[in-house]
Amino acid sequence: MRIAPRISYTKPSMLEVNGEIYKCIPEDLSLFGIKFRDNIANLEIGDDVIVHLELNDEVSLNGMVSRLIESGFVVMFNEDPEVIANTVGKYLTDKIFESKACPYCGQFLKKKVEICSKCGMYLDFSKKEVVKITKDLKLGNFISKLVHEKRVDYGALCTEENIEMVGSSPKMKQVFSLIRKYAQTDYPVLILGETGTGKELTARAIHERSRRKNKPFVVVNCAAIPEDLLEAELFGYEKGAFTGAHHRKIGRVETADGGTLFLDEIGDLPYNLQAKLLRFLQDGTFERLGGNKTHKVDVRIIAATNINLKKAIEKERFRKDLYYRLSSLSIELPPLRERGNDVIVLAKYFLTKFCKEQNKTNVIGFTKEALELMKSYTWPGNIRELINVIRKTCVLVEKDIIDVNDLDIRFENINLAEAEEGILNLNKHIENLEKELVKKAFILAGGNITKMASLLSVSRPKVYKLIEKYKIGRVKENIN
Ligand SMILES: Nc1ncnc2c1ncn2[C@@H]1O[C@H](COP(=O)(O)OP(=O)(O)OP(=O)(O)O)[C@@H](O)[C@H]1O
Ligand SMILES: [Mg+2]
Repeated sequence: MRIAPRISYTKPSMLEVNGEIYKCIPEDLSLFGIKFRDNIANLEIGDDVIVHLELNDEVSLNGMVSRLIESGFVVMFNEDPEVIANTVGKYLTDKIFESKACPYCGQFLKKKVEICSKCGMYLDFSKKEVVKITKDLKLGNFISKLVHEKRVDYGALCTEENIEMVGSSPKMKQVFSLIRKYAQTDYPVLILGETGTGKELTARAIHERSRRKNKPFVVVNCAAIPEDLLEAELFGYEKGAFTGAHHRKIGRVETADGGTLFLDEIGDLPYNLQAKLLRFLQDGTFERLGGNKTHKVDVRIIAATNINLKKAIEKERFRKDLYYRLSSLSIELPPLRERGNDVIVLAKYFLTKFCKEQNKTNVIGFTKEALELMKSYTWPGNIRELINVIRKTCVLVEKDIIDVNDLDIRFENINLAEAEEGILNLNKHIENLEKELVKKAFILAGGNITKMASLLSVSRPKVYKLIEKYKIGRVKENIN
């Protein structure tokens, strides 16, 4: 039996995929998803989409492409039960009672009832509790199906310590794919990215997918250890190597034998030590400080930095040969502001996590405005900053739904360095705003140019230019 009822729904709808808008014809609608009978070029399973539907009111629902079929594709909604109940749930309920027949057993429905008197199934999906129960039932089905098919695509990587690396934006999918590929090799990897983008998490994810996963993962932060101690820390020392060296000390490279050594902030590695690291990278050999015996270990090096190593090379602070040795396999982690809907996915992920930790079972989610704010903020501290904001919100919030004022987002966090990188570029922001407005006008006008011109208060030729400029014109006109 189908657990979530499905009704025929064929009103032309707008679909946003990767910033582009398509006009598509749906086939049917259920509580948890919608099926379209069009094909969109390059659409992939896992793509985030926004579906604009005209139900009792106009609604926009976040979703993900879950299936590609010959005659179209299926989008599963990615929304809280409350949102589903208030939108699709209400609409479905109205349609069920309009039809006067139970969608499960066909029992005649004289009036609106919560439960069908014949088959006992829930019929009022405008209640979030009913949506939740139905979802749980459906999830049970879904999981058993996945186990059966042995095919799971979570859009997330789970590390051994159960720390998930969450994301489903195209850029993060590429990162996940590199992690999987690099994990199969023993070559050094260089991870680049702004502060808080997940460099250490990425290094761990590579280690945990590699043949070294049962061996140590050793972290050395090159910026945190004083320059004159770093060599001893990395390579160890013999008794009497220097005043105070009362006994032999094994360095971190030896501790990491068989496993992975993660050299964080590699840009801060002192110049004289860089040659020693290069030699170690080439043949795995080194001498302890004050010793003349050469040791050999089997260690994979993963390095990370948030500074521009090419500039450091120009300033002769970083060796070119070491850079090339380290960077033949590299991963560039995108800043959070370039991960599109991942901000929302991560915010919801951490909200659930922290609410569970703090036993705040009443907190359901974010208001639309709060989600918009998080999406428009530039997150200079990236995921670490997002985590801090959500954790603090969870501690302080006394409401069920988190609103703009509950989020401690401070726009003055933007510093000069980031400003130089173009965060304050006014033209860029004006362009983004223009694009958003044109997109909205397009949706409201259903693609009608005259209506758009009137909504935007510009001429029709200008509308054509804007559509061309922002590629909004790449619309699939599926309507006859
Ligand atoms: N994609 C992600 N999904 C979930 N959590 C993440 C993700 N990326 C990072 N995190 C979390 O964000 C925090 C910061 O990540 P991490 O320490 O790996 O960043 P970093 O780039 O090494 O930062 P820094 O440059 O400041 O050292 C950690 O708590 C990490 O678990
Ligand atoms: Mg780090």
